Amino acid sequence: MFPIHHLEDDELQRIRIACAFLFSPDQARDDLFLKNLKLEHVTKAFREKAKRYHPDLHRHEPREMLEKRKERFIKIRDSYDILKHYFPEEEVRATADEGAVLRRVIAVGGAKGGIGKSIFAANLGILLSAAGHRTVLVDLDLGGANLHLYLGTTSLGSCINDFLTRRIPRLEDAMTSTRYGPQLIGGDSSQFGAANISFATKMKLLRSLKQIEADYIILDLGGDTSYNIIDFFLAADVGVVMATCDPAAYLEAYNFIKVALYRKLSRLFGEESDIGMDKDVELANLIAKLTKPEEGGSDGVANIVELRNRIRTEQPRNLFLINQVLRSFSPKLVINMVEDQSNTDAVVWRIQEVAEKMLCTKVDFVGSLPFDGEIKRSARDLVPAVARAPHGYYSLSLSRIAASLGLKVRGI
Ligand SMILES: Nc1ncnc2c1ncn2[C@@H]1O[C@H](COP(=O)(O)OP(=O)(O)O)[C@@H](O)[C@H]1O
Ligand SMILES: [Mg+2]
Repeated sequence: MFPIHHLEDDELQRIRIACAFLFSPDQARDDLFLKNLKLEHVTKAFREKAKRYHPDLHRHEPREMLEKRKERFIKIRDSYDILKHYFPEEEVRATADEGAVLRRVIAVGGAKGGIGKSIFAANLGILLSAAGHRTVLVDLDLGGANLHLYLGTTSLGSCINDFLTRRIPRLEDAMTSTRYGPQLIGGDSSQFGAANISFATKMKLLRSLKQIEADYIILDLGGDTSYNIIDFFLAADVGVVMATCDPAAYLEAYNFIKVALYRKLSRLFGEESDIGMDKDVELANLIAKLTKPEEGGSDGVANIVELRNRIRTEQPRNLFLINQVLRSFSPKLVINMVEDQSNTDAVVWRIQEVAEKMLCTKVDFVGSLPFDGEIKRSARDLVPAVARAPHGYYSLSLSRIAASLGLKVRGI
């Protein structure tokens, strides 16, 4: 399946390394093996290796062994991520039935406040928990924390702020059980300066989030585009961007996607990099011309298309790298509060078209949720929508979205 004769040397090399992790070094060197590789082989190999190395499946082992397994598992997961991008997304989604292993951290971000992100996060968490998955919801809207209310909880014991201010040593100590299934790490924005956390604190929080023992961890983000929010979004395995058909909301959602991609590019090298390669100064400078135009002088780069063209002509060795970043950036779009489906189609089409044209990014539309007048009441009565009306239109639409995201919930 791999068109290996059309690939740049560096790209082919990456594919071979990924294959060495998932299959064997001999197979990775074999051109015929690569040419005939199918998604089902890749997925099967991934699952087998994931079972062998996933730290959650070997919890009884000594810490040192577990660390080794974890390192290996991350390499295996990254290899799978590299290879699966060469297959059509629908095919990949259809085979992703072991979602717990493949997709763990789900972030919900998008347009600014009041468009239903927290209600979506809470109800998705309840659905996943009802399907038997260990699910933890985390309120990362540090300036406007209210997720607990949507889970029927009015008062929290400890919360995330206690971890950030070191009043409690472990993030798990802030976890509370909720009436509707999921565990919750709630927030308290009444604490002064809650939204302003330092780089070191953010990194500590990210590390702790990834170590939570759960099948799914859902991050409910604030709707602005501050670096902290965007970094939580980028740290997730699945990034949901929410909008409504209101022009301000969909423009904000597009802007959220753009800022996230620019941030991902500007962090290509350095402490938060996903690729762990030595810094290529020339490439870093070119990216800065796009992402930090205020520092760039007159020789700026206007958009991603231009960035890619400049890389193609000035530093073709880096083309594969930039293509990989673009391919691995796959925001999932949800439209909420829909009253007229034809508006949704137009909004989705607009966001997708502009993202494709300006950002070379494929925005994956995973579904819409209806406007439901009962939802306000449900929030007031502290009874989540999926519990109040499990067979209602909102619940049904949410289940469909979960399925589109490759998550297993009941009743679909
Ligand atoms: N599908 C929907 N239909 C009707 N009202 C909704 C819907 N989703 C959310 N809302 C309402 O929107 C308001 C904001 O929701 P919330 O989840 O807190 O937004 P955000 O997290 O984006 O700030 C709530 O009052 C809620 O009742
Ligand atoms: Mg919210």
